[in-house]
Amino acid sequence: MKTVNKQQIIPTTSARTLTFNIFRHNPSDPSSTPRMQHYQLAETDTMTLFIALNDIRENQDPSLAFDYVCRAGICGSCAMLVNGKPSLTCRTLTKDLPDVINLHPLPGFALIADLSVDTGQWMQGMSERLETWIHNQHLAEIDLSQVEEKMDPQKARDIYELERCIECGCCVAACATAQMNDNFIGAVGINQIARFELDPRDERSAKDFYQLIGSEDGVFGCMTLLGCDDMCPKDLPLAQQIAFMRRKMATR
Ligand code: SF4
Ligand code: F3S
Ligand code: FES
Repeated sequence: MKTVNKQQIIPTTSARTLTFNIFRHNPSDPSSTPRMQHYQLAETDTMTLFIALNDIRENQDPSLAFDYVCRAGICGSCAMLVNGKPSLTCRTLTKDLPDVINLHPLPGFALIADLSVDTGQWMQGMSERLETWIHNQHLAEIDLSQVEEKMDPQKARDIYELERCIECGCCVAACATAQMNDNFIGAVGINQIARFELDPRDERSAKDFYQLIGSEDGVFGCMTLLGCDDMCPKDLPLAQQIAFMRRKMATR
């Protein structure tokens, strides 16, 4: 196959033909009903799912809705269920998948259309509930002309490790507790609290943190199913953080 226009991809001679079964539905359109739609596409050597979806939208079906921003595993917006597993499409190579690929929107989030869900609203709600910012009475008094206070390098590295979360929602989609309890803060929320609990600049007490996550909607609602830890595309140490926070909360 040759190029049809500059957006279309040229497959290699040995390319597989991929079949995509894609969930389609637009809840804001009264005439729309949930259904699966099928597309075929010739695979290229380094094709990612994002590239494949973009090709389908450019050349077969401009109405197909899906999200992306960075195409580099940083923004978290391209997550969806790929053959049942929460994944980032921009970081998933089609060569690692069978030639039939089923795509669904992430469960646990409001559906916008097709493969696009509103993770932003969920994450904002979680962030506001857990007050995921540094609480420090003296921030206003900081003199910016002075040399900044030093932080222990290992502590800074530990905080950075937890800050790598891109709020993609894969851990929420992979968690049965989150699917059964809309108020559950998920591994992403527990990880956020673990991050601020570590931070010496945050003046919140053990009791303050307990009030935020010491409940069935928080760390005690987690049933240690570990789908979150398996599916996090950034390999955050979620199982370790959940166990750590649960031990801390249980002693309070
Ligand atoms: Fe995504 Fe991992 Fe953050 Fe969950 S913890 S939102 S899976 S990056
Ligand atoms: Fe859910 Fe992860 Fe706990 S999958 S039940 S948050 S261990
Ligand atoms: Fe940003 Fe995939 S497009 S993570």
